[in-house]
Amino acid sequence: MIHSKTKTKPQTYHVKSFGCQMNVYDGERMAEMLDAQGLTPAADGVDADMVVLNTCHIREKAAEKVYSDIGRLRRDDGSRPMIAVAGCVAQAEGAEIKRRTKMVDIVVGPQAYHRLPDLIDRAARGEEALDTDMPAASKFGVLPGRPKQPRPTAFLTVQEGCDKFCTYCVVPYTRGAEISRPWDAIIDEAKALVDGGAREITLLGQNVNAWEDDGKGLHDLIRALDRMERLERIRYTTSHPNDMSDGLIAAHGDVEKLMPYLHLPVQSGSDPILKAMNRSHTRDSYLRLLERVRAARPDIALSGDFIVGFPSESDTDFEQTLSLVREVGYAYAFSFKYSPRPGTPAADMKNQIAPEVMDERLQRLQAQIVADQLAFNQATVGKRCKVLIEKPGRKPGQLVGKSPWLQSVHVYADGAKIGDMIEVDIVSAGPNSLAGELTGKKEAA
Ligand code: 5AD
Ligand code: SF4
Repeated sequence: MIHSKTKTKPQTYHVKSFGCQMNVYDGERMAEMLDAQGLTPAADGVDADMVVLNTCHIREKAAEKVYSDIGRLRRDDGSRPMIAVAGCVAQAEGAEIKRRTKMVDIVVGPQAYHRLPDLIDRAARGEEALDTDMPAASKFGVLPGRPKQPRPTAFLTVQEGCDKFCTYCVVPYTRGAEISRPWDAIIDEAKALVDGGAREITLLGQNVNAWEDDGKGLHDLIRALDRMERLERIRYTTSHPNDMSDGLIAAHGDVEKLMPYLHLPVQSGSDPILKAMNRSHTRDSYLRLLERVRAARPDIALSGDFIVGFPSESDTDFEQTLSLVREVGYAYAFSFKYSPRPGTPAADMKNQIAPEVMDERLQRLQAQIVADQLAFNQATVGKRCKVLIEKPGRKPGQLVGKSPWLQSVHVYADGAKIGDMIEVDIVSAGPNSLAGELTGKKEAA
């Protein structure tokens, strides 16, 4: 039995998001919209009447994963849920997805998911249900407002898309041109999230620091959020070095609620490779920028993204990346093997790098990154800081929260609960987390 041909509308749904934080946010907005339509969430995909796979196209491995995930939705009796492929694979591959597998009923891109209810109706009638439009009117104007949800941390998309066209990257094609959401819409959504219980908001954008509205920049928005009484912490991600304004750097120095953490991808430490990547900054301009950020906020935790094995990357180029990583001393960093993506200029470049060479470079880079993460975490041992409790730990009585520098902190804190801001002394550190002890001070949620 194929659900889409039964002419019944689904009653239950399950949304599964892959990839970046913006996909997590989009997945939440889709779920809220389906709730508003009267559907109920199901804990598991196979049991749901309909499943949304909210996909990522950034690297080949992520993009191919959707096809194995679809296969896993076949039930023992041969039936399956109605299946919608959403997100960046939907945008990039469109109708090709339905050619590759008969198991997909709906294909919906990241700028069109406000039309999901209509697509579900069409699929239930057995009609074509594909929408990868990038309409001029934003989906945000159509989506229902944010419901009250008791959770301490929330994402809020303020900017979407990318005009930078790095030669390896699919984002300008899957997410479209850079668009900033209007000031009022963002402030309203932030208020709704804080009313619902959010104590920390992370502003999201593919180039979040390029956000602007009527002459105002991201720092103005951050200063407005800073004035919201029950909001305690503000973060933002992901930023591009070229959009790091003086105002934003200054905000790191004097906005107390703006957490001391900056994710600022550089991708490579070699100028010829940065040029081939069309990054429009140099190793030196990036390092000088970090100096200014550190001057404004000396304890800031820096994180970055790196690609190894970009076409024509020589041993010398790679050594430059390693030396940049050592020079910066990242608190956290993500590193990836270059993955050629269809339609991007780098996929057609000569001198693609052999997989064994990429493997070896990735291993060396990750060893350096882990050592630096450990050093950063160890340097916080002995410090006293606030931790926002986010979830229970694995051991009985244990809670896990985040330090201002976005480190996971494990703590035993009798009487504390999720959403509380507690004060801890950091007592030990590993490469991925810290252990803290309660100082006795607690601000209840
Ligand atoms: N191959 C490998 N990594 C990539 N990234 C983006 N495109 C590719 C690609 N084609 C990485 C970049 C980016 C992060 C989100 O993913 O480091 O900052
Ligand atoms: Fe993946 Fe980029 Fe799309 Fe996020 S925006 S889901 S990282 S391809």
